[in-house]
Amino acid sequence: MNQHSNPESGEEGMLPVNGGVDAARFRQAMARFAASVNIVTTDGPAGPRGVTATSVCSVSDDPPIILVCLNAQGPLNERFVENEVFALNVLGAEQEPVARAFAGEGRLSTEERFATARWTRLGSGAPILEGALASFDCRLRERTKVATHNVLFGEVIGVRTGGDDASLLYLGRRYRSLGS
Ligand SMILES: Cc1cc2nc3c(=O)[nH]c(=O)nc-3n(C[C@H](O)[C@H](O)[C@H](O)COP(=O)(O)O)c2cc1C
Repeated sequence: MNQHSNPESGEEGMLPVNGGVDAARFRQAMARFAASVNIVTTDGPAGPRGVTATSVCSVSDDPPIILVCLNAQGPLNERFVENEVFALNVLGAEQEPVARAFAGEGRLSTEERFATARWTRLGSGAPILEGALASFDCRLRERTKVATHNVLFGEVIGVRTGGDDASLLYLGRRYRSLGS
């Protein structure tokens, strides 16, 4: 028996005794986590930026606070911190091409990525995606660096909801839609 097997459960690759979970194994397991697809945007003195992101979460409803986890290794994501505002846009199934553009497919410039859709603004000035299922306009409240990522906590200062279209999800390393 090696440390990655669990003969009692009959399942493979379970219960490492002393940690030792490598990134590939972690990602394989996370591929089973069905996640809503979002585009997190910012704009301000540091310039515009948008990123397709599934690592987002509601933190509290009074006051309304959400969090997003953004890779801190590229310089462009520092714009979220420098601008001190961001918006979380929850995507519908029709917006899959926009999600792909903001995930880096086609290696588009920031300007070209934003040109794949129409945007408006609420109070913070961060881009709000027209037709998104919901958008949360946020002021950055706190930033915590954890390993390779920045966890950004945003105080929600505005909300906009759209139609009841199907949701865009990411599961099993591919985009899917879940009807309303
Ligand atoms: C489905 C999906 C979910 C993603 N979730 C996140 C995320 O939560 N945080 C993050 O920093 N990057 C996430 N990414 C990666 C970014 O979208 C991607 O690295 C970035 O947009 C690439 O931009 P760049 O080409 O300008 O570096 C995700 C990508 C995909 C396809």
